[in-house]
Amino acid sequence: MDAVTCTAPVNIAVIKYWGKRDEALILPINSSLSATLSQEQLCAKTTVAVSGQFTRDRMWLNGKEESLENPRYQNVLREIRRRARKRKIAGEGKGTSLSDALSWHVHICSVNNFPTAAGLASSAAGFSCLVYSLAKLFRIEGDISEIARQGSGSACRSLYGGFVSWNMGEKDDGTDSVAEQLVTENHWPELQILILVVSDQKKHIGSSAGMGVSVKTSELLRYRAEHIVPRRMKEIETAIQNKDFQTFAKITMQDSNQLHASCLDTYPPIIYLNDTSKQIMHLVHKYNDFCGEIKVAYTFDAGPNACLYLLEEDVAGVLAMVNHCFPPIEQNGDQYIRGLQVEELPI
Ligand code: PMV
Repeated sequence: MDAVTCTAPVNIAVIKYWGKRDEALILPINSSLSATLSQEQLCAKTTVAVSGQFTRDRMWLNGKEESLENPRYQNVLREIRRRARKRKIAGEGKGTSLSDALSWHVHICSVNNFPTAAGLASSAAGFSCLVYSLAKLFRIEGDISEIARQGSGSACRSLYGGFVSWNMGEKDDGTDSVAEQLVTENHWPELQILILVVSDQKKHIGSSAGMGVSVKTSELLRYRAEHIVPRRMKEIETAIQNKDFQTFAKITMQDSNQLHASCLDTYPPIIYLNDTSKQIMHLVHKYNDFCGEIKVAYTFDAGPNACLYLLEEDVAGVLAMVNHCFPPIEQNGDQYIRGLQVEELPI
């Protein structure tokens, strides 16, 4: 038997991916950009093992056995084995030979240290971790973001630290639809993320299903992908390179709002934000107005939980404001803030 264990953190997009031009290969209709959190925080931990004793491929997620029938898992396993076959070297080095590993079945065991499928990018961390672990196990070299992308689009961005773009690419085979690190995690150490957990319930419509309906029905989404995202990508990349928080924060909020506007423009409409999410948005704008400049920016994925980007020097002030507006309550021994659980995370 041979086994590998890895961890991968979630990433929080500032230019959102929403919509696919190819469902099978997971090719997006627009490029996107995110920050990957640091390793110790919200992350997936995955162990993959191959053994001649295993009779079939199996997987456990958070202690519960999951079916590997899902085409996303099948795509990842097929692509990993295809790449490994290409560079098969029998009996190499220590441990299991690649020839053995290729004819054996895999067991996958993955746990998230945060709510799964609650719009906290759990699939990004999960698939990125799975693909990275499998690539190590099968000794695959070169770019693996193309494989992670075929598990969950946003997963390709969690393979790198710092700010990472996922270029939509132009080719039909997806070979140029890959992730690329814009700056490392050391570039902007003052930048922090606060995660306000509004709900840890599973989202009512998954991102993949949601995107499918949006692509078919939202004209706003088409306009956004063609005309707005290309411009925003350039502007926010420059802002990040220059550590220009004002520009970065404004584009981040605008892009989150446009994602949710496109969801509302979908027919039938998709609504991920709830009243608490909207109160947080309102509060952020009030606070920024009061300060006379942007101190904090919100962004929401496919769920009601808020991610706040801010500079380290403003964490105490923003936390005080959140605590003031959402007085803390105790729930199951954890400190929640009137339905919010606050996590303070470095990038
Ligand atoms: O990778 P998916 O299928 O979980 O989609 C992620 C979509 C958003 O989180 C809403 C946006 C993004 O770019 O991460």
